[in-house]
Order: sequence, then structure tokens, then C-alpha cells
Amino acid sequence: MSTNHDTPVTVLGMGEMGRALAGALVDAGVPVTVWNRTPGRAGALAGRGASVASTVREAVTAGPLLVVCLLDEASVHEVLDPVAAELAGRAVVNVTTTSPAQARGLAAWAADHGAAYLDGGLMAVPEMIGRPDALVLTSGDGGVAERYGDLLGRWGTVDHLGDDPGMASLVDLAMLAGMYVMFAGFFHGAAMVGAAGVPAREFAARLAPFLTAVTGAFAEYAEVIDGGDYTVPGQQSLEFSDLSDVLEASREQGVPTDVVAPVQALLAAQVAAGHGSEGFARVFEGLRSRRSPAPA
Ligand SMILES: NC(=O)c1ccc[n+]([C@@H]2O[C@H](COP(=O)([O-])OP(=O)(O)OC[C@H]3O[C@@H](n4cnc5c(N)ncnc54)[C@H](OP(=O)(O)O)[C@@H]3O)[C@@H](O)[C@H]2O)c1
Repeated sequence: MSTNHDTPVTVLGMGEMGRALAGALVDAGVPVTVWNRTPGRAGALAGRGASVASTVREAVTAGPLLVVCLLDEASVHEVLDPVAAELAGRAVVNVTTTSPAQARGLAAWAADHGAAYLDGGLMAVPEMIGRPDALVLTSGDGGVAERYGDLLGRWGTVDHLGDDPGMASLVDLAMLAGMYVMFAGFFHGAAMVGAAGVPAREFAARLAPFLTAVTGAFAEYAEVIDGGDYTVPGQQSLEFSDLSDVLEASREQGVPTDVVAPVQALLAAQVAAGHGSEGFARVFEGLRSRRSPAPA
């Protein structure tokens, strides 16, 4: 990995995240040029040494590395299409959230215009940028990841997931699926005890260490899923995992079962198919893609 903090970097998008990314580079002494559709959003960055470009063209042509942090795929095209001819020979690091297919489409579009493309997934909120617990997933052009890895490392811990430009986005969104369902579980539990007058704060203080402890089971479940044998002894069975009591208690508290009922349905489907004595991780079988995995 090269170390080059003299490389001029352009950051397109001065939203919450774009400002944090640009700020971390400015703090590292990197020459940074920023641009935003709505002027005046660079905030304190200008005073800290960033150059504020007044046009996208001015921003794009300021250096070899272009960081794109906009709202969505459509906004990336809206901003870059008019200056596509300026992209040749530059590297585009797009950390805008897109679907994997959109990321692959953007990589192909960039290649058509002579640009190298690295997609990024930021597993962090803006306040975390610059800390090691901010995970920066990347995939796509390995040369860009290598050349600018030290700069990207200013944002957090970089994890390059290979040449498929869609992989960073896929893993990012899969991780968010896990996070949002977990948060919904917290909201459900808080509603259950809230109906009995227990403040959410008190419930959160109990739930957080419990969830931290039980996530240790991910690795064990993963072993079973990857091995494909749900009959390995020592697993919690599907029948034992039945959520009827949770559903009943929810109804007693007047809490809708929208969050928990789908989990019970996944369990019940496996039990109905005759797998009740097998491991809880068999729920994965009801969710797995019927498509063959893409070749590595
Ligand atoms: N914030 C987070 O915690 C977080 C975490 C991980 C990933 N991300 C991703 O990072 C990206 C930026 O997030 P953010 O938090 O910075 O969002 P944000 O504060 O809402 O900022 C959105 C940015 O996109 C620009 N934009 C939107 N539509 C545009 C268009 N059609 N043309 C040009 N510019 C446009 C906005 O410009 P204007 O100022 O002109 O509206 C603004 O600079 C998103 O894809 C988000 O999913 C964010």
C-alpha cells in the first residue's frame, strides 16, 4: 500500500458524511477540494484548508482521486454524466449507497469513460469517521484500493472485498439487514415492557449486554450453515426455539406481532417440513437464495 498524503483528493457531496470524509483527509494534511450542489454546505472545512470548487468540472479536474458521496445512484449520474469526458485517467471512489447491481453499472460506466472505479460501503455514522471502529468496505479496482489505501484508511479500517464492484454494497446492505432487524427487535421488546410501565432506557440497559453476549453464537451457527448439517449434536433445536410464548406475551401487552411473527413463520415452516429436532440455524434454509452463487 502506498503512502501519499500529497495526492489531491476531490470530495463531491458535502452532506453529513461527505463533510466527515473530507474533514478526515484535511486533518491528515491531504490537499482536498470539495463541491456540493447547494453552495455553502462545506461549513468549517474551508477555514480548515479545503478548497471549495464552484463547479463540478473544477472539482473533478483538481486531482486524480475523486470521492463521490451523494444521495443515491441517480444523483451520482446527475452530477458526473455532464463531466464524464473529464474522468479519463482518474480514479473514482464511490461511497454513495447503491444496490450491488447499481455499483456494477457505475463501474462499467466509469470504465467506458476511462476511469478506474472502486465502490465503498461505509459501516459508520459520520461521527465515527476517523476511528478504527468505522469499517470501510471496498470492492472493485484493486489498483485503486492499493494505491489509495492509506488515504482511505484515514476514514477507518479498510476491508477490500475483491474485484466485484458490487460486493462492498452487497455486504454493506446485508450487514444493515442484520442491524435493522436487531433494532426492530429492541423496539418490539421495549413496547412489550413499555406497556407495563418499564422505561425503554431501563430495558435497553438490560438488553444490550444480553445481545452482545448472544452474538457469540453467530460463529457457531455459521459453522453449521457452512457445513450444511443441521443435525450436529448440541444445537438448540427448532422446536425448542418456538416463539409462541413471545407472541402470546406480546398480544397480552397489546403489542402488534409484526416484528416477531415472521420469525415464528420461518421456524414453523422448517418444523412443518419435518426438521423440528434439527438446529435453529436451519431457518437459514428458508431464506437462502435458490440461485447458484456467482462464480468466485
Ligand atoms: N450519514 C450516515 O450515517 C451514512 C452512513 C453510511 C453511508 N451513508 C451514505 O452516504 C451518502 C451520503 O449520506 P449523507 O449522510 O451525507 O446524506 P445527506 O447529509 O443527506 O447529504 C446528501 C448529499 O447528496 C447531495 N445530493 C442529493 N441529491 C443530489 C443530486 N440530485 N445532485 C447533486 N447532489 C445531490 C446533497 O446535496 P445538497 O446539499 O445540494 O442537497 C448532499 O451533499 C448516502 O448514500 C448515504 O446512504 C451515510
